Order: sequence, then C-alpha cells, then structure tokens
Amino acid sequence: MSEQNNTVAVTDAPTQPELQRARKRLDALWRRGTDFLGTQYAILGGAMSWVSERNLVSAISNAGGFGVIACGAMEPARLAEEIQATRALTDRPFGVNLITMHPQLTELVQVCLDAGVGHIVLAGGIPPGAAIKAIKDGGAKVIAFSPALVLAKRLVKMGVDALVIEGAEAGGHVGPVSLTVLAQEILPHIQSVPVFVAGGLGRGDALVSYLELGASGGQLGTRFAAAEESIAHEKFKKAFVRAAARDAVTSVQLDDRFPVIPVRALGNEGGRQFVTHQADVIRRFQSGELTREAAQLEIEHFWAGALRRAVIDGDVEQGSVMAGQSVGMVTSVQPVAQIIDDLVEQATVALVRQQRRMDTDG
Ligand SMILES: Cc1cc2nc3c(=O)[nH]c(=O)nc-3n(C[C@H](O)[C@H](O)[C@H](O)COP(=O)(O)O)c2cc1C
Repeated sequence: MSEQNNTVAVTDAPTQPELQRARKRLDALWRRGTDFLGTQYAILGGAMSWVSERNLVSAISNAGGFGVIACGAMEPARLAEEIQATRALTDRPFGVNLITMHPQLTELVQVCLDAGVGHIVLAGGIPPGAAIKAIKDGGAKVIAFSPALVLAKRLVKMGVDALVIEGAEAGGHVGPVSLTVLAQEILPHIQSVPVFVAGGLGRGDALVSYLELGASGGQLGTRFAAAEESIAHEKFKKAFVRAAARDAVTSVQLDDRFPVIPVRALGNEGGRQFVTHQADVIRRFQSGELTREAAQLEIEHFWAGALRRAVIDGDVEQGSVMAGQSVGMVTSVQPVAQIIDDLVEQATVALVRQQRRMDTDG
C-alpha cells in the first residue's frame, strides 16, 4: 500500500482516480444485474399502481435504470396503449408488472410479448406455471417475488429468470420479514438466477452492502414515487417530503378471523377509520347481522380505489398513501436522473471509503 493512501482520512473528499476505481468495482458488483436488465445501472423502479406509468417509467429507463409499468387492473387494450406510449418516450429497456390474480393474465402476457417487452414481472402470489412458460416461450424474461427461501427455490425450479426479494420496510403490500433478514436467508443460497433486493432502500451505500452479500441490484419504489416526473398529485408528494420513516406504518388487523393484507402506507385519517370500520363489521358479524363472508368482503372493500384517491386526486387524508419506511429519506421532489445519480454517487463513495479502510489496514 502506498504511503499516500495511508495518510488519506476516510472522510477526505474522494480523488478522481479513486472514484474511477470505485466505479469499476460498482460496475463489476452489479454486472449480472445490468447484463440481465440491459441497463447502465442495476436499479429497478418498482412498479407502483397508478404511479408507474409512461412518464415515470421512461424517466427511470432514460436515466440508466429499469422502469417497470404497473399494469394493475388495466385491460389488455389499455396496457398495449401504455406500453406504446412508454416506448415513444424511451428507446431503453423497461418491463411490465402483471398481477397474477388478474382475470385476463394470459391476454396481458400476450400483449407484452406482441409489443416486444423483454421482462415481465409477475406479482401478487405464486405465478402460474402456464404464465411462466408462455412468457419464456415468447422470448421474454420472467421476474418473480420471493418472500422466503423455500419459495425462491421453487420459483427457480419453475423457470423464473430472476427474483426480487422485498422486505417489510417497503411501501405497498408487504410480507412480515425485513430485507436485512431476507437477504441473509436467501442470497447465500440462490446463485443460479440474479436476485434484486427491495424494501427500505434510500441510499446507494446501503445498496452496495446488499451487492456485496450477493444481490445483483436493487429495486426502489418510494423514492421514485415522489420524483418530479411522477404523475402523483402534488399533495401526495408533499406528504412524502414531510414524512419520517416511522410514519409509514402497516395496516392494522383487529381479528384473526378477518385477515387484512398488510399494506404499508402513511398513517392518516383513512387508516384510523379502517380500525373503527373493522370493529363495526366484527360487531355486526357477532350479532348475526352479517355472515362471515359478507363481513370479510366489507373489510376488504374499505380500501377499494383508495390508492387512486391518494395518488391521482391528492386525498392524502382518506386515501391510501402507500409509502415505505425509506420515505424519511425523501427530502425534496427531485428529477429521476438526480435520484439515480445520487444513488450511484453514494454507492461509489462508499466503495472509495471501503478501499481506503482496506489500504489503511493493509
Ligand atoms: C405507492 C406504491 C404503490 C405500489 N404498488 C405496487 C404494485 O402495484 N405492484 C407491486 O408489485 N409493487 C408495488 N409497490 C412496491 C414497489 O414496487 C417496490 O417494490 C417497493 O416500493 C420497494 O420498497 P421501497 O418502497 O422501500 O422503495 C408499491 C409501492 C408504493 C410505494
């Protein structure tokens, strides 16, 4: 190790040669991810219903990341239109996220294949084998979510080309386990396909730590939802800027007999009313006024259309302001390119510091 390196403090500003070396190391660390996605950076913009449409998706892809359209409840013709409109805004690769419960899943897959979409993300439960086969036969790649090692192994056997492991820190529908634990449980054991990490990522240095554990890249949602190019209502973005990590809470379930799918969102009046609503429904069930099925439906219907109300109408009090704990790291509304540049710079600087520590120790 050189004398000079020994005298550089870990906190001193990085030099150009140090940055270049660190960038090469970052490129190597996530090469499997960038090769798989066909992008400059292995950063996916996680699909977000109502938010991940042509503008945000193309902005992410144009900035060197990988945008993903959220199909949500769209009909096939509407999805075809969105893909075409996105392609008009970017010539870079992007993907489409399909919900496996969608009644027209087969047709939606075909729409993606006909439009030449290279990567299809299957979300919302274990993907049907037929959908995986159709996507692969059509020449596209399948990405699936895995909330546990046993499922990760099963999905790999079923033929998925990549996995996303999403921790409970994430915004939207979440599982119970944090990314810190999921990464340790899954990354050492899944080597045959690239694995992308999601949930709670707000900075590039954190992403580096997961790349070093074996991840091929990262997926972020919350930070992009508040980006300048996001069509989310100004009030939705302002709520993100104001919120701290602890404000992004999971939905409360009052009674085991009436399961509530956990969703992480900013606590608001709607969230408080949901608790009262459940209590009222349970009381009506207990008095015999409602059957169990009817009671469950009443609970599920409470949030119908609530994400749209928050994102599009800007009703941040009654709507569902889905956000991950990384919302605390959203401090302003920034252009997507700035968010991605910051992430890459933070990752690079983290690697410079690591190199200096090794040089000093060596
Ligand atoms: C407002 C919002 C809506 C979301 N909607 C979806 C969705 O429709 N489908 C999906 O697979 N994931 C959805 N997600 C999850 C994201 O794709 C992504 O995995 C997650 O936001 C990553 O964690 P982070 O929020 O900590 O960045 C949503 C997240 C947010 C914040």
